[in-house]
Amino acid sequence: MAIDASVLVLNGPNLNMLGVREPHIYGSLTLDDLEAACQERAEQLGLTIDFRQSNHEGELVTWIQQARTEHDGIVINAGAYTHTSVAIMDALILAELPVVEVHLSNIFKREPVRHHSYITGVAKGMICGFGPHGYLLALDAMQRILGRD
Ligand code: DQA
Repeated sequence: MAIDASVLVLNGPNLNMLGVREPHIYGSLTLDDLEAACQERAEQLGLTIDFRQSNHEGELVTWIQQARTEHDGIVINAGAYTHTSVAIMDALILAELPVVEVHLSNIFKREPVRHHSYITGVAKGMICGFGPHGYLLALDAMQRILGRD
C-alpha cells in the first residue's frame, strides 16, 4: 500500500565515515550508498525520506524538534549518542512521532558501554545487527506503523 508520509532518517556521529570506519564491523558501504538504498526502498513503500547526518548533538536535537511539524516519523541511528544523550531522548519525546531505532552492528554483542540505549525506551522498536539492511527493515516497520496509526 502506498502511503504519503515523510520520514526523517537521522544518522549521528562518525557515520559519515562509513566505508572507511572499521569495515569489519560496519561493512564497506558508504553513507551515500546507504542513502541511495534507503531512497530506493522508500520509493517502493510510498514514503518520502529526508536522510541526514551530523556529528553534532545539538544539530541532531534541532532537527528532531523540527521533525515534530515537518515529518511523520523518525528512523534514527544516533551512533555513540545512543549510549549517552538524554538530550536526544528528550527531543524524541517532545517530537511526538513514531521512532524506529537502528544500528548497523549488534550492540549487545559488543562492549558493555554499548549495551544501554537512551533511545530504545522512547522508540516503537529497535533493529540492530543486520548492517545496512537494518535501515531497509526500519523503513518497512515505519511504513507499517504509519499505515496503521
Ligand atoms: C552504531 C553503534 C554505536 O555503538 C556506535 O557508537 C556507532 C554505530 C551502529 O550503527 O552499529 O557509531 O550506532
